[in-house]
Amino acid sequence: METEDILNIIRKGKGKAEIISILEDIQEKYTYLSEEALRLVAAETGCSLTDVYGVATFYKAFSLKPRGKHCVSACRGTACHVRGAETVVAEFKRQLDLEPGETTPDNEISFETVNCLGACALGPIVVSDGHYHANVTKRGVKDIIEATRNGTLESIGGSKDCGFSFEASCPQCGRNLMDIAYPIDGHPSIRINVVTAAGTGWMRLPSRYGSSVKVLEHAVSEDALLTPLCPHCGSNLQGDFDCLECNAPMGDMNVDGGAGIISICSRKGCTGHMLTLNGATI
Ligand code: FES
Repeated sequence: METEDILNIIRKGKGKAEIISILEDIQEKYTYLSEEALRLVAAETGCSLTDVYGVATFYKAFSLKPRGKHCVSACRGTACHVRGAETVVAEFKRQLDLEPGETTPDNEISFETVNCLGACALGPIVVSDGHYHANVTKRGVKDIIEATRNGTLESIGGSKDCGFSFEASCPQCGRNLMDIAYPIDGHPSIRINVVTAAGTGWMRLPSRYGSSVKVLEHAVSEDALLTPLCPHCGSNLQGDFDCLECNAPMGDMNVDGGAGIISICSRKGCTGHMLTLNGATI
């Protein structure tokens, strides 16, 4: 890695709030995050090395060792497991001749397994270069590998974006909030309910960090305040903090099994959001 290149990427960011974007940019260029890169990010942004390392190791999207040109993730979560995920994983291992976590000798494909991709009802799920494949069978593995190598992937979302995304759940009842049938930016959306002046209806949010689209069932003004509710248990998702941009209350959701919290501003037109991992706010 070129130190000057990494510093240029970091300096394009806006400081602490851009750590994830900076790490994404470095990984996109070098396929992984070296120790030197993590130290430079910490030094340049003022975050502790522990916080930067925490972000880099928390998300499967980041890797601390070189990755292949393409990335394939097969879900081994409970729902996918009972639908035949192990057969799918075994077929990927056989055809790619590697174990999960390894990269093919030609540096083309890295293969990994994950615990849940938020689309349990359509499992087994495989994600290749950000494209979701539902109901994958042993016979479908060859096609996914070929399309991944050839760059001709199609998926439910139809996105070619391989960026950082997360899975959200209710902090009260723990139920999954992802909706694979309604993708935003090519990734499953997060669906919650909101109370507005026009009544209670659904709101869908992107699961890609940094995107701030809010799609509502009922039209409301941009400065309207929304009361966020879990669609499963009805709990009020309003958290303890106010938005740093407009002072409106933030709505909280757990991310990736509760190891972090994503907070979204409850004002319709505000883009304020933040991510808290192990107590560190990003
Ligand atoms: S268990 Fe596979 S997507 Fe949830």
